[in-house]
Amino acid sequence: MEPVYFRMPSRRHFLLSGAAAIVAGRRLVAEAPLPVVTVYKDPSCGCCAKWVKYMSTNGFVLNVRDVADVDQYKTMMHVPTALQSCHTAIVGRYVVEGHVPADVIKKLLSEAPDLLGLAVPGMVDGSPGMEGARSEHYDVIAFDRAGKTRVYAKR
Ligand code: CU
Ligand code: CU
Repeated sequence: MEPVYFRMPSRRHFLLSGAAAIVAGRRLVAEAPLPVVTVYKDPSCGCCAKWVKYMSTNGFVLNVRDVADVDQYKTMMHVPTALQSCHTAIVGRYVVEGHVPADVIKKLLSEAPDLLGLAVPGMVDGSPGMEGARSEHYDVIAFDRAGKTRVYAKR
C-alpha cells in the first residue's frame, strides 16, 4: 500500500481564512440589497407620490401600482382599521402603511422581527411626504397578524 500523507493547513493559513470569512460576512451585511417596495396608491394622491419620491431618494427601488380602490389592498394585507393611512406598501415580507420613515423601514428589515408590518396612522404633518409649515410628533406602530400593536419608533 502507498503511504498516505495528509497536508494539514498551517495555523497561519487557518487564521487568514477565518479573517477572510469575517470580512466576507461583514460585506454581505453591508451590501444586502434593499427589497423592492411595491406601493398601492390612488393615482390622484399627492402625498403618496411625495412619499414614493422620498423613498427612492433614500435608496429604495419602487414599484408603483396606481389602483382605484386602495381600501381593498389594506383589507387584503390585514392592516388594522385604526392604523390605516393613504397608501399601502409591501417591503420584503412586511406591510408598510402610510408615511413611514425610510430609516425605520431599514431598521425593520435589519432586525427582522416577527411582525406583519408598520404604520403611521392617518396623515401626520411633518412625516415623510407630508412636509410643510407644521410638524407633529408621531409614533410608528408595529402590528402583527392578530391585530396586536405596539410603538416601534417615535418621531
Ligand atoms: Cu398621505
Ligand atoms: Cu400616501
